[in-house]
Amino acid sequence: MLSFLFISKKIYIDVLHMSGLEVNKILASIILAILVVTVIGHLGDIIVDTDHHDMEETAYKIDVPETDKSLPGEAPKEEIIEPISLLLASASLEKGGKLFKKCSACHNYEKDSANKVGPNLWNLINRPKANVEGFAYSKALAEYGGEWSYEELAEFLYKPKKFVKGTKMNFAGLKKVQDRANIVLFLREQAENPVPLP
Ligand code: HEC
Repeated sequence: MLSFLFISKKIYIDVLHMSGLEVNKILASIILAILVVTVIGHLGDIIVDTDHHDMEETAYKIDVPETDKSLPGEAPKEEIIEPISLLLASASLEKGGKLFKKCSACHNYEKDSANKVGPNLWNLINRPKANVEGFAYSKALAEYGGEWSYEELAEFLYKPKKFVKGTKMNFAGLKKVQDRANIVLFLREQAENPVPLP
């Protein structure tokens, strides 16, 4: 402790004995050192260009495949779409009508009514697919072939984009089997001679 005080005192005396010129020299070199550090810092910024976010645009987007949620060692889960046939007899026409609100932004169902974003759905059951006159179907649905049977219609409504890959019907689907039965029963009614239930 004593020696520390002694050294401090000596430095103090040394500084006092320094000429004004020497003090100026020291100050000048401190300022120079600060300047050099600042300039180098800015140079670094200019070279690396940290303020611009062009990186975001040039970055590549990687499509990550849907993860399979099954446990290791377990077979991947197949999506099982429950059939509606057994439910149709006890399905609710009223609930089906209410559910149609999900479709009515894009579809009419009355006879001779106009096509909207989607085709008119009058007389749909057992009607050939993609056969409403004057409606511009997607290639995918136009080439699908066959008629709208009860089960095919229900499967389509489960997840339209899965049943007809490339369809332009933008609708996520009806996941509940009871909902599909109700709405298919409702659509069945929209015909002069409703097709007998399966
Ligand atoms: C956002 C609009 C939209 C909604 C909502 C929508 N659809 Fe569609 N739907 C379409 C379009 C567009 C097509 C034509 C698809 C194509 O050409 O690929 C279509 C096609 C169909 C077809 C095939 C008709 C044919 O002539 O072959 C059926 C059946 C159908 N929709 C039923 C429904 C039902 C039932 C709902 C409600 C649960 C629904 N859609 C909801 C737009 C919609």
